[in-house]
Amino acid sequence: MKTISVIGLGNRGTEYMMFVKMFCKNVKIVALCDTSEQALTDIAPRYKIPRDKCFSSTNDFFAQGKISDAVFICTQDKTHYEIGRRAIEIGYHILMEKPVSDNLTECIELMDLSKQHNVNMVVCHVLRYSNYYQKIKNCIRDGILGDIVNINHIENVGYFHFAHSYVRGNWKSEKTATPSLMAKCCHDLDLIQWFMGSECTSVSSYGELSIFKKQNAPANAAERCVDCKVEKCPYNAVNLYLKDPFWKAKFVKYMRRTLTGKTGASKADVLEALKNGDYGKCVYHSENDVCDHQIVAMQFANGATATHTLNAFSNKMMRESRIVGTKGELIATDKKLVLNIFGGRKRTLIAGSLITGHIEGDYRTVIAFCKLLNGKLDESLMQDVTFISDTIASHQIVMAAEKSRHNGGIPVDPQKII
Ligand SMILES: NC(=O)c1ccc[n+]([C@@H]2O[C@H](COP(=O)([O-])OP(=O)(O)OC[C@H]3O[C@@H](n4cnc5c(N)ncnc54)[C@H](O)[C@@H]3O)[C@@H](O)[C@H]2O)c1
Repeated sequence: MKTISVIGLGNRGTEYMMFVKMFCKNVKIVALCDTSEQALTDIAPRYKIPRDKCFSSTNDFFAQGKISDAVFICTQDKTHYEIGRRAIEIGYHILMEKPVSDNLTECIELMDLSKQHNVNMVVCHVLRYSNYYQKIKNCIRDGILGDIVNINHIENVGYFHFAHSYVRGNWKSEKTATPSLMAKCCHDLDLIQWFMGSECTSVSSYGELSIFKKQNAPANAAERCVDCKVEKCPYNAVNLYLKDPFWKAKFVKYMRRTLTGKTGASKADVLEALKNGDYGKCVYHSENDVCDHQIVAMQFANGATATHTLNAFSNKMMRESRIVGTKGELIATDKKLVLNIFGGRKRTLIAGSLITGHIEGDYRTVIAFCKLLNGKLDESLMQDVTFISDTIASHQIVMAAEKSRHNGGIPVDPQKII
């Protein structure tokens, strides 16, 4: 039986814990760490974790020495490097939430340290583990598309998701989190570089925060949505969190939990948070600074090119890609995957799925990590495990894109950003 401690019991940490319990019979969660006493009190009984294995600071947790085989690091972005470094030095294998860091020196230090201490640091680029993206990778790997020439990829964040996370919420500011391209799209850039299988040699990027700024507020907009008289504002927090249509219901559950800090928050809890907290602020009067749209153009060593678009303004949260090779093209629209071989037949590889690639990727990541911990990961998946050494390229592309964006779109070599 292998053992895991979980640091950070928020949305991600608790989801991963649930998947360990559901799918990984030979792995046990034995200790918890979170700065929120409330989180420890809520979560510990569900996993029968004794009080003396619940820690309210990483200092207290690390002071115990090595008390499990691995740790899940699921705290907010800016804490990953420091917690990761300490965990490696103690000898923990690590499942690390993305982004690792927005500082390349820190990423490289963690990669080198993990080698030195002979521990696995697996980064949660969860999409790679989903059946959907595995199918795309296998089409490319098996040569079905011929040589890859171009990838065109779009991350449609969803207007309500963007407002929640990148205008009002945890990822609204580069100072307290990371640029939106890093926070949201290091996944997409990881997929692109994984599909390409070639080093990215040049990146150009443009983008900015165009819309969610004070000067764009309607004339009669109030600072808080509870006081606002503007009609039909799609970002009105009272509508978003309390009168949401059915199709977004699941996401709204997550959103309500984030804004109140409570699972199963009542209407009164939500209203209270909207009156006093950041999630009730007008989207034009928040303290956000991250880009609401950005494009990235990439050249690869094999001569292929790719573009990526981050876009806040979509009705649905969905990723789309068109991957073109010398023999055919793959059209990937969220849950549907179509292969067109030139001069051949059109084949629908995935017609649609009830669960998104993201959730499928989440639980398959946990299963893969637990198998790795037990030394039982089969060859076919082993080649795609997102070790830090395999995923750091995505972070380098983001950093190059940010450098380019801040310098009028000049081409930047991701290998030369330090
Ligand atoms: N892999 C993915 O697809 C994916 C998706 C969403 C979020 N994320 C990343 O996962 C991480 C966690 O996101 P989340 O939505 O679960 O956040 P969250 O805010 O819901 O949870 C973070 C938890 O960490 C705790 N915490 C904060 N600082 C701490 C510290 N120093 N020591 C111990 N506990 C601490 C908080 O109290 C909270 O319970 C973020 O870095 C985020 O960017 C990854």
